[in-house]
Amino acid sequence: MSIGIVGLGYVGLPLAVAFAEAGHDVVGLDVDQRKIAALRAGESYVEDITSERLRGVDGRIRPTTRRADLAGTEAVIIAVPTPLTANREPDLGPLLDATRAVAGVLQQGQLVVLESTTYPGTTREQMVPLLEESGLKAGRDFHLAFSPERVDPGRTDFTLRTTPKVVGGLTDACRDRAVELYGRVCDTLVPVSTPEVAELTKLLENIFRSVNIALVNELAMLTDRMGIDIWEVVEAASTKPYGFMRFEPGPGMGGHCLPVDPFYLSWRAREFDMTTRFVELAGEINQQMPYHCVARIERALNAQAKSVKGAKIALLGVSYKAGVGDTRESPALKIIALLKALGADLHYHDAFVPELREHELADEPLDDVLEGADLVVIVTAHPDVDHAQIAAQAPALLDLRGVTRGVTTGNVIRL
Ligand SMILES: NC(=O)c1ccc[n+]([C@@H]2O[C@H](COP(=O)([O-])OP(=O)(O)OC[C@H]3O[C@@H](n4cnc5c(N)ncnc54)[C@H](O)[C@@H]3O)[C@@H](O)[C@H]2O)c1
Repeated sequence: MSIGIVGLGYVGLPLAVAFAEAGHDVVGLDVDQRKIAALRAGESYVEDITSERLRGVDGRIRPTTRRADLAGTEAVIIAVPTPLTANREPDLGPLLDATRAVAGVLQQGQLVVLESTTYPGTTREQMVPLLEESGLKAGRDFHLAFSPERVDPGRTDFTLRTTPKVVGGLTDACRDRAVELYGRVCDTLVPVSTPEVAELTKLLENIFRSVNIALVNELAMLTDRMGIDIWEVVEAASTKPYGFMRFEPGPGMGGHCLPVDPFYLSWRAREFDMTTRFVELAGEINQQMPYHCVARIERALNAQAKSVKGAKIALLGVSYKAGVGDTRESPALKIIALLKALGADLHYHDAFVPELREHELADEPLDDVLEGADLVVIVTAHPDVDHAQIAAQAPALLDLRGVTRGVTTGNVIRL
C-alpha cells in the first residue's frame, strides 16, 4: 500500500524520496502548483535531494494537488509549515488545513503522523477533533502519532536513515504503528510515551540551540567592547573534553526553525501562567545581532573616513546558513534592510540565492561584487568561496563567521 505525504518541502520531499527508495508508492500532496509541476518534471527544489535522485524513484512518487488522491493510503505524514503570525503567535492555518484534507479521506486502520514542529498538545487537542469529524475514533478506528523531523538542511554526516527518530503515539498501538512505519526508512527509533513528549522534545532541541547561540552572541558583543577575540575564546573552550559544547557566534539566527519554533512554547506556556524567560531572552539577543553587525560595518567604514551612505558594500552569502539557498529569516535580510535605509550601495554574491526580489537585488559574479568595494562583509560563508584569498586582497573586510581566522592582516576585522 502507498504512503501519503502532505507538504513536500525541506522535510516532506526527503521523506517521500526515502519511502520511495524503500520500495513504497508515495502520494505527495502540496498546495504549491509550481512545486508539483517541478516534481512531475523530475526537478528537485530541495538541496538535499538531487534531481538525479528524484528521477531515480520516477514513477513511485505521485505529486498531486488533489486531496482526494490521499484516499486508500496506509499512512499519511503531515509536514506542512508551522509559522508565526504577525503578532508572533502560532499560525496553525496550514496544519489545520492539511488535517482537514486528511480527515476528508480518512479510513479505518489508517495511520496519521504529524511531523511539523509545534507546541505540546497540538496533536491531541487540534488534530483529534478535526480527524474525528470523519466519524472515526482516534486510537480505535485510526492511529495517530507525532514524530518530529530532525533534518538539518545541507548536512551530510547524518541522514534521515541514520538520525534517531522520536515517536509518540496517542495510544501504545498508535506508537507501535508509527515505529513500524519509520523503521522502514530509519535505523533507530526512539519511542516515547505520548505525542506531547515528542512535541516538547523537538522544542527542547531547538530551544537548546537558540539559547546557546544567544549566549555566545552576547559574549561576542561583550568581547567586541573588551577587545578580546571571541573566536579564539570559543576555540580554546572547545578543547575541554567534557561539559562544554561548541556554538559559533554569528550575525543572528535564521532559517525556518530556530527563530520561530521556541515561540510556540512561550505562547503555550502563558496558558500555564509561565513566562519562558530563556526563550524570550535568547530571541531578544539573537534579534539584536544584525543591529550589532551594522554598527560594526559603520565603524569599519568610519575607520576609512567613509560613511555608509554611498559606500559600496559587498555582501558575501545571504542565505541563513552555509551550503543552502534558504533565505527564510536570514539575518542578511535584516542587515540589508538596515544598510539600505542608511543609503549604502549594496551588492551581493551568493551562488545559492539568484535574487532577493523584495530588496531589488540579484546575485552578481564574485569579481564584480568585490570590484571597488569599500567594505566586504562575509555574512554567510558558503563552501565554494575562497574567503582567505578574498581577505588577503580586499582593502577592508568584516568577517561575521570567523572563517578568516588564519588571516592576520590589518584590513580584516571579525565579529
Ligand atoms: N526545514 C527544516 O530544517 C526543518 C527541520 C525540522 C522540522 N521542520 C518543521 O517541519 C515543518 C515543515 O517545514 P519545511 O521546512 O519542510 O517547510 P517548507 O515550507 O519547506 O514545506 C512545507 C510545504 O507544505 C506545503 N503546504 C502548506 N500548506 C499546505 C496544505 N494545507 N496542504 C498541503 N501542503 C501544504 C507548502 O507549499 C510547502 O511546500 C515545519 O513545522 C518545520 O518547523 C523543518
